Amino acid sequence: MTAPRARILGLGSYLPPRVVTNHDLTKMMDTSHEWIVERSGVEERRWVDPEEGNHTMGVKAARAAMADAGVEPGEIDCIIYATLSPDYYFPGCGVLVQRDLGLGHIPAYDIRQQCSGFVYGLQMADAFIRAGQYQKILLIGGEVHSRGLDKSTRGRTITVLFGDAAGAAVIGASDDPARGILTSRMHSDGTDAECLAMQYPGMAPNRDVFVNLDDVESGRIFPNMDGQKVFKTAVKRMPQVVQEVLADQGLTVADLAMLIPHQANLRINEMVAKLLHIDESKVHNNIQKYGNTTAATIPLCLEEARALGKIHPGDLVCAVAFGSGFTWGAVLMRW
Ligand code: ACO
Repeated sequence: MTAPRARILGLGSYLPPRVVTNHDLTKMMDTSHEWIVERSGVEERRWVDPEEGNHTMGVKAARAAMADAGVEPGEIDCIIYATLSPDYYFPGCGVLVQRDLGLGHIPAYDIRQQCSGFVYGLQMADAFIRAGQYQKILLIGGEVHSRGLDKSTRGRTITVLFGDAAGAAVIGASDDPARGILTSRMHSDGTDAECLAMQYPGMAPNRDVFVNLDDVESGRIFPNMDGQKVFKTAVKRMPQVVQEVLADQGLTVADLAMLIPHQANLRINEMVAKLLHIDESKVHNNIQKYGNTTAATIPLCLEEARALGKIHPGDLVCAVAFGSGFTWGAVLMRW
């Protein structure tokens, strides 16, 4: 008997209601709407209200994804939570979702991989389903960036790019053997691990304590990024891995109905589309409204593209991501 294909059975997302425009940012730091839009495409993003956290958004996205899939919480037998901005240093958000949803004592995996977190999670879920290990997996990608960014002029290069959100998918066996995840490829290269990183607080060598006052006052606790290196590497790795998954299935870019790229920067995605020779009408972007929501970008984009009628059953869809690590990967699906 051949193993069943895994398929995304339902999608859900949660966007905090507080909209922060580029004009709002100009009141906090020396920047401009024009600079941000020209360099990144971002026009506005969402920031959480005080009572919201990463896992509380994850729970809302998960409920929406389960409703969309027609799956009851009691049917979920595994949680995978991808984030770089967990509520606690430990434990991870997975167990907080298990608790809040009142699920049984099911496994809860927490994964990192930053911007590639959701595609890495999709590959894990696909493997678990095909192996028969679990039947209905809840995959969540969520970020609360707004509490970890430097909102002064010192942090402007990074802060303007990011937003808060959560997205979720329920993954299970496909009842149609033609539909579902066809293949996936994940990669990493730690050579430039510190080029896009949040290195403090941490347990790295030669530190006497997890975090100290100087780390806070000097701004070392905020993320650092070599923007140009990230840009150049992303536009190389994303097209490469899209071609890998297509070649694996004997398909070409011309067969793709929709490319769902991670939303790091609109300029990166425009370049990726150009290098792949794919028409921009077949690439869905929404970074303009939400900024880079890291582990949440892929489910947010998938759900929005589907709602806009850009993805139909039977379509060939590729989700591709690149981010800190560096890590990158692509998942090819027959929708
Ligand atoms: N507003 C106004 N001016 C700014 C801002 C800002 N928000 N940020 C930086 N500047 C200034 C700089 O101080 C600098 O001024 P100077 O010339 O007087 O020194 C000037 O703008 C140019 O700065 P650069 O950092 O060289 O700007 P660059 O053209 O490289 O653009 C950017 C920066 C947008 C980050 C670009 O490098 C990029 O797109 N990189 C990709 C990184 C990315 O997308 N990261 C997303 C997260 S990672 C991920 O998800 C994969």
